Amino acid sequence: MTILVTGGAGFIGGNFVLDWLAGSDEPVVNLDKLTYAGNLETLSSLRHDARHVFVQGDIGDRSLVAALLAQHQPRAVLNFAAESHVDRSIHGPGEFIQTNVVGTFNLLEAVRAYWQDLPAGEREAFRFLHVSTDEVYGSLAPEDAAFVESSRYEPNSPYSASKAASDHLVRAWHHTYGLPVLTTNCSNNYGPFHFPEKLIPLVILNALAGKPLPIYGDGRQVRDWLYVKDHCSAIRRVLAAGKLGETYNVGGWNEKTNLEVVHTLCATLDALSPRADGQSYASQITFVQDRPGHDRRYAIDARKLESELGWKPQQTFDSGIRQTVQWYLSNQDWVQNVVSGHYRDWVAKQYGDRA
Ligand code: NAD
Ligand code: DAU
Repeated sequence: MTILVTGGAGFIGGNFVLDWLAGSDEPVVNLDKLTYAGNLETLSSLRHDARHVFVQGDIGDRSLVAALLAQHQPRAVLNFAAESHVDRSIHGPGEFIQTNVVGTFNLLEAVRAYWQDLPAGEREAFRFLHVSTDEVYGSLAPEDAAFVESSRYEPNSPYSASKAASDHLVRAWHHTYGLPVLTTNCSNNYGPFHFPEKLIPLVILNALAGKPLPIYGDGRQVRDWLYVKDHCSAIRRVLAAGKLGETYNVGGWNEKTNLEVVHTLCATLDALSPRADGQSYASQITFVQDRPGHDRRYAIDARKLESELGWKPQQTFDSGIRQTVQWYLSNQDWVQNVVSGHYRDWVAKQYGDRA
């Protein structure tokens, strides 16, 4: 038995592959285009591991995907591959449409052709699991109840609109062709191997480098945070026991304002790696121009996953943040490798005239 993972050199896909092979001997074929967000250093511990087959390629390359499916005969395909950063989608939405919409379409078509020709037993056991986001549901007011699986889709950014489109394609391939699909919609992740364009790793690295900690707008926007390894365990659970055609919200009931998150990070850094001058890292906080169309609040109601499939997160926000800060402090090699020329170009473009 084998699984095919797409986007497995990225943040969540990389954590998923590492966790999967730590808990099982079932091989993984890992298809990743290695965009700026893909990093083989994340998978360096698997370099000589025969259970991990890495293939550099695009989910939109239908003939490549067809060849991989024919060669490796996976029992499941898990689609993590995507353009994932909201700010980048505002600067350049084209890649988001290309990968998240057209790429998912091509992937679905290649998988459908493969699945249709499988022998009856394998056809029945096959699964296509699509990894999606809570951002497809739009933005909540402070008094609104958290998103449930039946919440209306109201995406507001080019990123979330492209993810919403991909979710709709996955749903339609089940409804029309019977493809055995599962979809997960997860809240904000954090943890090891997170690319430092996103709030939590950006703040940790800027703090340590003595740079400003940029807070968009008033910093009172709310996100619902989940440690990445808890997201990975939820995906394994949905793959094992999810009902075909269903979607599952994934979240840890950890709503925080961005200011709370940044102050928690500063306090953790103050304790684990204090500044030489004795001041708190919080003195580096700087308010900058807001993100256009910035969603005010996300919150996930994960009761369906908890009650139907018995999933529970292992980490609290405090324990997960502490582990994350510790991971960045102990993995400077990974950080230096990631913070390359392309990363510096992005930081100049995004923050240069924002202060
Ligand atoms: P990421 O940007 O860190 O990684 C994406 C990976 O996909 C990279 O390795 C990249 O090289 C690869 N990729 C991009 N385009 C590709 C293509 N056309 N073909 C093959 N590979 C391609 O993203 P992430 O944060 O790990 O997110 C993974 C998935 O989880 C995404 O679908 C995202 O929408 C979803 N998600 C993310 C979060 C979060 O907080 N990060 C939360 C919920 C859902
Ligand atoms: O909700 C799930 C989503 O979470 C995923 O689908 C996305 O792939 C993932 O990137 C994440 O999206 P966000 O836009 O919520 O994450 P980000 O880390 O970019 O920003 C978190 C919050 O912090 C958001 O309100 C914007 C704010 N922010 C972000 C950056 C990078 C700042 O205030 N300053 C910053 O410099």
